[in-house]
Amino acid sequence: MCGIICYTGKKKVIPILMDGLKRLEYRGYDSAGLAVVENGKTFMVKSKGKVSSLEAKLSDSSSEATFGIAHTRWATHGKPSEINAHPQFGCNNKVSVVHNGIIENYLEIKEELIEKGHEFTSDTDTEVIAHLIEQNFNGDLERAVLKSIEKLDGAFGIAAIHSDVDHKIVVVKRGSPIIIGIGENEYFAASDSTALAPYTNQMIYLSDDEMAVLNSTEYYIKNLSNEVLKKKVEFVDSDIYTNDKKGFEHFMLKEIFEQPETIENAFRGRIIESEGVSKLGGLEPVIDRLKNMKKLIIISCGTSYYSGLIGRYIFEELTELNVETEVASEFRYRKLKLDKNVAVLAISQSGETADTLAALKEAKRKGALLLGIVNGVGTSIPQLTDAGVYNHAGPEIGVASTKIYTSQLVILTLIALLIGRYQGMSFTEGKEIINAIKKLPDQIREILSNAKMIKEIALKYSVYNDFLYIGRLFNFPTAMEGALKLKEISYIHAEGYAAGEMKHGPISLIDENFPTVAIATDDLVLEKILSNMEEIKARDGKILAITNEGEKKVKKIADDIIAVPRTLPLLQPILNVIPLQLFAYYIADEKGCNIDKPRNLAKSVTVE
Ligand code: G6P
Repeated sequence: MCGIICYTGKKKVIPILMDGLKRLEYRGYDSAGLAVVENGKTFMVKSKGKVSSLEAKLSDSSSEATFGIAHTRWATHGKPSEINAHPQFGCNNKVSVVHNGIIENYLEIKEELIEKGHEFTSDTDTEVIAHLIEQNFNGDLERAVLKSIEKLDGAFGIAAIHSDVDHKIVVVKRGSPIIIGIGENEYFAASDSTALAPYTNQMIYLSDDEMAVLNSTEYYIKNLSNEVLKKKVEFVDSDIYTNDKKGFEHFMLKEIFEQPETIENAFRGRIIESEGVSKLGGLEPVIDRLKNMKKLIIISCGTSYYSGLIGRYIFEELTELNVETEVASEFRYRKLKLDKNVAVLAISQSGETADTLAALKEAKRKGALLLGIVNGVGTSIPQLTDAGVYNHAGPEIGVASTKIYTSQLVILTLIALLIGRYQGMSFTEGKEIINAIKKLPDQIREILSNAKMIKEIALKYSVYNDFLYIGRLFNFPTAMEGALKLKEISYIHAEGYAAGEMKHGPISLIDENFPTVAIATDDLVLEKILSNMEEIKARDGKILAITNEGEKKVKKIADDIIAVPRTLPLLQPILNVIPLQLFAYYIADEKGCNIDKPRNLAKSVTVE
């Protein structure tokens, strides 16, 4: 989704902005642009499509400018086009603005400004910000921005410059991330720390309703009441930000292959074997409340929603909690009765998903305990929650989530283990779970060593246009996640279903051209899945089964099988999803799809 990168200092700004835009590409976008100021004049270039087309347009530029702002846009208001790309500008081309998020009352403001004589050129909501700043400007950019913000409703991250104000960049955050990068006599702002990683490891994460003013010699941060704030500078480990495919053809494949390490990072230092329990420093401040909690609601979106669904089964298995899982976009508008006896757990790779953030804010208003499982350190969700656990899985660049999903499942298990041990789980059971978790990295290595065989199967199935994925209990969400992986990167229609629901609809679709992927590993519902597979076979449907090594009955019915090692049923989804990730990847690759940046999708969805 939209990305912002800004720089003020002594170096040539265009290469820095272009490098930043390329690092933000993975978020998903449809147009890009930049504005720099040199000798009191704005130079702006925008382009529809890839950052490389913007680069081509800049190939003749001899600009020596040393401050400017840039943006990748993912259309919300107005089609992807050069005119609608950011930066947006006012009537006199002096103010330039880039913006992530949505201005909800932009039409109202636009009408007012048109009455005052402003002329608009784009269909964007962002353009009103530029005109408002122009309207309020009397030599002081900071004041003009502050005054303009008062008028805006919605969520935004904004950066503004003015060609009469040398080297000054004003940025504001409300609901959409802004991070300040601190260098030696140079300052950066970006919507994502990945863009800043090559330049500095000192970063400040703005909170909502904070403004940062940067120029080439100093920076300061204020609240919107104009009071200067002291903010903590975070030292970010820049090694984990390498945007390098490390020899893999795509980031997605690299990330699939990183899972033995990311799983290990999720549990390293977080288990006490001798006591059969987990130790999660991030939850310690709230552990007494957690122990006595009666209800847990897990909220999340996309792939994180599916890990939350498996989380529900895990918590039910290991704790006394009543658990619900809900997509955040629904949760935020429900009339739920929440209070201090309810914990709301947000799961988010990015830590910035707008719906998850809004749902959490709603839960906070009602007094619930807020928890998070987040990969993006210092992002908006961990700033809002009372306590939480980081994935520490490094950045995930491929839009389709893989390594974070399995890492989320490990962390959910660790949290359930921690609470479960206070709620009556035995030492032996705790120890058994720990032993099984510790084996996961090697078991994943074993599955990955079969990638070639999985590729062959994927190529065989790449001729079909529709797929059904079925699973039960812990693996019902696995079926949905497998189907999501396939549809998002290969654009093939795929549906994930609870196998028990087959007879209530999907079975009517089955014929020799509509294959099924059945998740049929060893658990208490294996026999039931076998019956569903028989029903599919009876209707000439092809079946690819994910099953355990040596599972004879499944082998007999399925046309093809991919065998995975055995683990506890509650951890089995972690292993079962790996072949499904590879299966989707190889089919999408065979079809020549843009795997890391599928059409219309964004890595970090910062608008509702
Ligand atoms: C987008 C991404 C998905 C992700 C979802 C939720 O749709 O493309 O991969 O699962 O957002 O994102 P989050 O960062 O909250 O986990």
